[in-house]
Formats: sequence, structure tokens, C-alpha cells
Amino acid sequence: LKFVCYSNDGIDQHMVWLIGLKNIFGRQLPNMPKEYIVRLVMDRSHKSVMVIRRNQVVGGITYRPYVGQRFGEIAFCAITADEQVKGYGTRLMNHLKQHARDVDGLTHFLTYADNNAVGYFIKQGFTKEIHLERDRWQGYIKDYDGGILMECKIDPKLPYTD
Ligand code: ACO
Repeated sequence: LKFVCYSNDGIDQHMVWLIGLKNIFGRQLPNMPKEYIVRLVMDRSHKSVMVIRRNQVVGGITYRPYVGQRFGEIAFCAITADEQVKGYGTRLMNHLKQHARDVDGLTHFLTYADNNAVGYFIKQGFTKEIHLERDRWQGYIKDYDGGILMECKIDPKLPYTD
């Protein structure tokens, strides 16, 4: 099992994994238009942290780092149906936090969580209260009425992965 983070860089193996992830999002996020999913997953300003098992993608998180604002927006998060509730979602989020802090220099995440995923995000340290100053994120993330805006502060020191 491994965790990797790539964006659309034209490398064959990375593209195969990103297409696999796009297909998982398509199945697990039925309210999201498929063209919108493929556009963001393949957009070079987005990155995807993926769980890889036996060289197959099991799930992932696609996010956009706003490095100048020091926050990231999580666009999509999913684990393939037969691998849910085995702890992959938690480990994935921990790898995302570690990468975003140590590589991108981010301090916070924001996401529009689907109603049924709010419980998962709360377990990952997200809150419905937004503490990040409005002028750091307003105008950067698009309003989306299908979900609830949630925030997570990344601990500056905590080792999130082993
Ligand atoms: N509601 C409440 N609690 C949940 C949910 C949920 N939908 N999903 C998982 N949990 C809990 C688990 O019970 C577990 O609790 P525990 O630590 O007390 O045992 C904890 O959250 C972590 O569980 P994991 O096994 O790590 O989570 P999993 O691997 O299943 O990944 C995920 C969670 C990503 C939500 C997965 O279930 C999934 O893909 N669901 C369908 C797609 C989805 O809803 N994605 C999020 C949409 S919002 C967005 O993308 C911005």
C-alpha cells in the first residue's frame, strides 16, 4: 500500500492512476457532472493524493492549493465502494495534510462537504465554523449549494504519517 501525490504531468503511470481516480469519483459522487470531475482532476492547478494498492488506485483526494493564500480547497474525496470503512479515508486525509503542509506550505483546508460525508470530515478534524479570515479565501473558492462549507486547520508540527 502506498500514498502518492501527482497532478497531470503527462507521465504514463500518473495518468493511469488519475484516470482510475476520476472513475472512482464518477461512481462515488453521482451528483457531480462527469465532465466537471474530469476537468478538475486533469487541471494542472489541482493535485491528487491517491491510495495505491497492488498498483491499482483505491481512492483519493483532489485539491487545489492556493499557495499564496496558504489554504487548499478539497474538490473531491472518495474511496472505491468495496474498500470503504477500512480506514483508508483517514490515512488518505493524513497524507494530504502532511503533503499540503510540508510541500505546499498550507495552514488550512476548506471543502464543501456532502451532507452524508459531514461525519467523516468531522472525524478528520474539520469544523462547520470557519476561522480562516474571510479575505484569505473569499473570491478563491466558488460557492456550491450542494454542500456545507467546512474548515480544517493543519497542525504546524504534528507528524501525520509514519
Ligand atoms: N458518515 C459518517 N462517518 C463516516 C462516513 C460517513 N459518510 N464515512 C466514514 N465514516 C467514519 C467511519 O465510520 C470511521 O469512523 P471510526 O474512525 O470511528 O471508525 C471514520 O469515519 C473514518 O473511516 P474510514 O474507513 O477511514 O473512511 P473511508 O475509507 O470509508 O472513507 C469516505 C470515507 C471518503 C467518505 C468514503 O466513505 C467515500 O468514498 N464515500 C462516498 C463518497 C463521499 O461521500 N465522498 C465525500 C464527498 S464530499 C467531497 O468530496 C468534498
